[in-house]
Amino acid sequence: MTDTDAAPRGLFRLVYASRFTGADRDLDEALRSILAKSIQNNRLVDVTGFLVAGEGRFLQLLEGPVDSVQATYERIARDPRHADLAVIASGPADRRLFRDWNMGQHRLGAADAALLAEAGQQTFEPAGLDPEVAVRLLAAAGGRHLR
Ligand SMILES: Cc1cc2nc3c(=O)[nH]c(=O)nc-3n(C[C@H](O)[C@H](O)[C@H](O)COP(=O)(O)O)c2cc1C
Repeated sequence: MTDTDAAPRGLFRLVYASRFTGADRDLDEALRSILAKSIQNNRLVDVTGFLVAGEGRFLQLLEGPVDSVQATYERIARDPRHADLAVIASGPADRRLFRDWNMGQHRLGAADAALLAEAGQQTFEPAGLDPEVAVRLLAAAGGRHLR
């Protein structure tokens, strides 16, 4: 592999699932504040990614320089708004999947049955997802952002 083919030095990707600790009716409000803060913080450390939320669950992908992704994840993991964090995938990546978004989000709704069915799920239970299926679901939720 030549240097130009190589993964951008230190590009790292982490995917995890978690459970919202608040009441269902508070999820939209929590999402709004999480997104605003994420975009602000992630931009500063070159992190991009995507967050799918629904049915009291989160599935998030973070990508960027390894130090930035790890520091961001450690901060996120201490957030009392969610619990039961389960890392689905973590390791070097050869390219960004969500380069346009410091953090994009999709709130699952009634129209997303097909999206879940493609991931083999009737209800959104991201913690048990296979890493590739999880990334596909994130990408599908993010529309045409998989390059
Ligand atoms: C599901 C979930 C996803 C989050 N994603 C991010 C993120 O991508 N980037 C980030 O900086 N904070 C994220 N947060 C918020 C952090 O946990 C934390 O509240 C925030 O980074 C604190 O930022 P501050 O120290 O600038 O106030 C997330 C929180 C939750 C519950």
